[in-house]
Amino acid sequence: MVMPTALVTGSSSGIGAAFAKRYAQLGHDLVLVARNAERLRNQATELRARWHVDVEVLPADLGTDDGCAAVETRAADVGRPIDVLVNNAGFTLGADLLHSDVDAEEQLLRVLVRAPMRLTKAALPGMLARDRGSIITVASVAAFVNHSSYGAAKAWAVRFSEALSLNLAGTGVGALALCPGLVRTEFHERGHVDVSRVPDWLWLDVDQVVTECLRDLRRGKAVSIPSLRYKGLTAAGRVLPRGVVARARDAGRTLKRRR
Ligand SMILES: NC(=O)c1ccc[n+]([C@@H]2O[C@H](COP(=O)([O-])OP(=O)(O)OC[C@H]3O[C@@H](n4cnc5c(N)ncnc54)[C@H](OP(=O)(O)O)[C@@H]3O)[C@@H](O)[C@H]2O)c1
Repeated sequence: MVMPTALVTGSSSGIGAAFAKRYAQLGHDLVLVARNAERLRNQATELRARWHVDVEVLPADLGTDDGCAAVETRAADVGRPIDVLVNNAGFTLGADLLHSDVDAEEQLLRVLVRAPMRLTKAALPGMLARDRGSIITVASVAAFVNHSSYGAAKAWAVRFSEALSLNLAGTGVGALALCPGLVRTEFHERGHVDVSRVPDWLWLDVDQVVTECLRDLRRGKAVSIPSLRYKGLTAAGRVLPRGVVARARDAGRTLKRRR
């Protein structure tokens, strides 16, 4: 029997690792993408042993033309169809727009915008031909409340998924932007974001985030915001004037950046 296959970018850590585990648990074969090949191989060994699924390892830097192209080729391979694409790989910059490096800003756009767009375009024709498939793009509540280039890139992911979902209406293919709040992963350490003063109630459980995402996907939603508390916070962020949200965020200063 041919099992469905999920391709997860940024699978080696955090939210991507939780997606990879969940899809393995659901009986999907996997294609794992991240830069660190050894980490991917170890992850693949564990997933094969635990869930008895086929796991391919595809080390690639999605910030480069060649790395992204290699994953596009795999996503478009009609002989080995991808049923679920999880555009998850991502990072944030350790500096605001006044202090960031222009090349780092470009890398951010390459990984958070260019790669999800290109991988989606690569996977879609096969999904439409089979009239079956799902495209999950991991955005963030930052899309609604954070006025940084990271927030702008995540806002793109939300709009992109909403537009795609509308275009796909009436087909068997679904598209959804997942907008998590704070999740304990390597993300903050890597981005030099100090989260030491974030209260416990703001942290989400990574497996619960994946559960809510897949439930919203089944329900045909285009945007998934896990947990009532973040649904409320983002609703406020959407209706309040941008300046008020920015001032409230800055006054809170819960997420101070290390310099
Ligand atoms: N954690 C949060 O609070 C939070 C909240 C909202 C949204 N998000 C979003 O969730 C997604 C996953 O983040 P996370 O929290 O799980 O972070 P994480 O633990 O740092 O994991 C990031 C993953 O992306 C991979 N990656 C990074 N740059 C890459 C590149 N250029 N090419 C290929 N793979 C790359 C990393 O592996 P390698 O380093 O080996 O490449 C790793 O597997 C991101 O899109 C992030 O913006 C996170």
